[in-house]
Amino acid sequence: MDVVLFGPPGAGKGTQAEHICKLLGVTHISTGDLFRNLDKESELGKRVKAIMDEGGLVPDDVTMEILAQRLSKGDVDSGVLLDGFPRTSNQADELVKWMTPRGRTVDLVLAINITDQEVHRRLVNRRMCRSCGASFHMIFVPPKVEGLCDNCGGELYQRGSDTPEKVQPRIDGYHKWTLPMLSYLEKKGFTIVHIDGMNKPNDVSQSITSTLREEGFIQ
Ligand code: AP5
Ligand code: MG
Repeated sequence: MDVVLFGPPGAGKGTQAEHICKLLGVTHISTGDLFRNLDKESELGKRVKAIMDEGGLVPDDVTMEILAQRLSKGDVDSGVLLDGFPRTSNQADELVKWMTPRGRTVDLVLAINITDQEVHRRLVNRRMCRSCGASFHMIFVPPKVEGLCDNCGGELYQRGSDTPEKVQPRIDGYHKWTLPMLSYLEKKGFTIVHIDGMNKPNDVSQSITSTLREEGFIQ
């Protein structure tokens, strides 16, 4: 089964990804994580980091090339959870072009919805683990030990684009490019399931479980 995990920045895609992957038996692939893991000294790594730090979108051709490399690995055969991809209609078309000859399709689009105001509240206080990429929030999801990851003890840091002035362009980009892409997928006949992401993380996880059960994706 192949799933697109959709939502505005800060919706909780990364926070919910492990739970969804366990439920569906699929592999988590986040384009944001792929970009953050590029060699920071390489020309490509520097170019991509500059775009991300400004809150812009990485060009479609670069995104597709890096994603295609990741999709060439064997662990994608049993299905993927694509987190943060596609973000434009062009990327959606490229994804379908990759899937069709392989006999695959987007079986489900799981859309986590939160308000723009909540995006701000979540992102400016987010801290991420440098080692494993886990997300924390200084108020809503605080780490047990300040500055350290609960999962692996790694150092927590603030993303360059998680500042009040960078969050707004990301929200604007979401409304301009990414939300229309969701309507585009809907018109193409893909199944879209909406989840209210405004509740506490565990409540959102439960809501995802019960919705996937109701929709017949899990027993
Ligand atoms: P990416 O890493 O994908 O960032 P994003 O889409 O902006 O989403 P986030 O990772 O910021 O949010 P999230 O939904 O994962 O929320 P999280 O779980 O962390 O992309 C980064 C950049 O890469 C982009 O800006 C772009 O430049 C580039 N990029 C990536 N993909 C691209 C593509 N396809 N094309 C072009 N460019 C691309 O949670 C957020 C915070 O809220 C955390 O602090 C968390 O602890 C907290 N939290 C989570 N759930 C809850 C809850 N229920 N209640 C309270 N707090 C919560
Ligand atoms: Mg994320």
